[in-house]
Amino acid sequence: MAAITKPTTPFEGQRPGTSGLRKKVKVFQQPGYLENFVQSVYDVIGDFSGSTLVVGGDGRYYNKEAIQIILKMAAANGFGRALVGRDGILSTPAASCVIRKHGAYGGLILSASHNPAGPDEDFGIKYNIGSGGPAPEGVTEAIFARTGNISEYKTLDVDDITLEQLGTVQIGDMQVEVIDPVADYAELMQSIFDFDAIRELLSGDFRMAFDAMHAVTGPYARVIFEEMLGAPEGTVINGIARDDFGGGHPDPNLTYAEELVDMMYGEHAPDFGAASDGDGDRNMILGRHFFVTPSDSLAILAANARLVPGYADGIAGVARSMPTSAAVDRVAARLGIDCYETPTGWKFFGNLMDAGKVTLCGEESFGTGSNHVREKDGPWAVLFWLNILAVRKVSVEEIVNEHWTLYGRNYYSRYDYEGVDAAAAEEMMAYLRSRFEKLPGNNFGERIVKTCDDFSYTDPVDQSVSSGQGIRILFEDGSRIIFRLSGTGTEGATVRVYIESFEHDTDKHGMNAQEALGDLIETAGVISRLQEFTGRSEPTVIT
Ligand code: G1P
Ligand code: ZN
Repeated sequence: MAAITKPTTPFEGQRPGTSGLRKKVKVFQQPGYLENFVQSVYDVIGDFSGSTLVVGGDGRYYNKEAIQIILKMAAANGFGRALVGRDGILSTPAASCVIRKHGAYGGLILSASHNPAGPDEDFGIKYNIGSGGPAPEGVTEAIFARTGNISEYKTLDVDDITLEQLGTVQIGDMQVEVIDPVADYAELMQSIFDFDAIRELLSGDFRMAFDAMHAVTGPYARVIFEEMLGAPEGTVINGIARDDFGGGHPDPNLTYAEELVDMMYGEHAPDFGAASDGDGDRNMILGRHFFVTPSDSLAILAANARLVPGYADGIAGVARSMPTSAAVDRVAARLGIDCYETPTGWKFFGNLMDAGKVTLCGEESFGTGSNHVREKDGPWAVLFWLNILAVRKVSVEEIVNEHWTLYGRNYYSRYDYEGVDAAAAEEMMAYLRSRFEKLPGNNFGERIVKTCDDFSYTDPVDQSVSSGQGIRILFEDGSRIIFRLSGTGTEGATVRVYIESFEHDTDKHGMNAQEALGDLIETAGVISRLQEFTGRSEPTVIT
């Protein structure tokens, strides 16, 4: 069947952000908008003729329509085969798993992660390369450049295909295989973790709750936790995936995963609670009446990795994004392995994993993962914790307290100011940069500023440089304040302020983080004049 070529004109602003192109659904629904972006991807990723493309998404509104467009264009552009999750579903880590397992050329993942879904909410698309990881900056920039001068796209004039049934159908010369979205992923999890030990844990008095937040992990969690691991039915809450995520904001943190948090802090709370986000790559870990910060979680997984069959031989190295706390650095030092500090965004971990330099990676934004795929992975992190708990047979709180006793505690908190005027946010950042020379040596309470800079990263594998990755105010005592503007929002700007200080003294480990960091939080306001610039006196979210 002959491809048809349709003329088009460029749209402004199709530059992929921290994790792909994210816009309102209404923006994506403009005729040609998605087509332009997809054609730009196909135009710059090299020669894929006859090879395989993986397509799937988090099931949000417009997912299915987008997949039809993408598949027809894939066939017209020369892909030989497409693997699509049934109903158009693939969690982000499952998409990465499928790309790797089936030797695909790459994949298109449709998601705006934890951003709300629905006709008036967000949509997103990103391209992942054959390693299963998000396209590196060189590729995303080439895609963006192409969107600026695109003049036509190729598609086929055929009926929509049925995504509801497993099996193979044909579009033009391309074969489309509709696959079970859970099977490959579940099999991979089984190959890493001790499912027998976890099954035994879950068959005793131990109780867990997993909040799928009406998003993509519902079907994954029901199969893995309830069917394969024998957790009682009802362990997975909000397990029915909906295209508007039940009207919620599926971001697994203390603010948005309210139902789970209430349960875990209530009477008769389960022993273990976890949640994942819209597309299944984030995780939140809770014990009974106890919250584990993502930075601590990464450090604890690294310290206990040998308890898990998949990491029994030890881990090669670890990496964390720059704003993530340095808790894992301490574990790496003790294990005698390397620890890398990268810019925010999972794409920076890919090269390190491909080169065998790191096994575990994490971000403070509830993202943890390993080299089993090239995305962060929510259910994987939950299984990791369950595996540790099954072996150590102590509570989550005891594991964390013991960890702090051994390594010290990195008090940590992030303040988000969402929906801020974009120009005001830029001005604040410019103001902070203008103070780099004057701040060092100044006292703020008992803390003295040591250095300040705008974080720049040279990839140790390909030597590529990423600059302007966040303003760091570093103090003599090792504490830090970081300022960054979000690269994933779709409205105005989001200012993120990350605050961290280290406490070695075990007697001081029992404090509330807000209390322990109180003076630094105040200092952050003073140094940045945040209230003056943004008009905000309080953050919208604290994690
Ligand atoms: C946020 C997080 C970042 C994460 C990204 C994608 O990006 O901060 O760690 O990788 O979402 O999930 P930001 O909005 O800060 O650019
Ligand atoms: Zn996500």
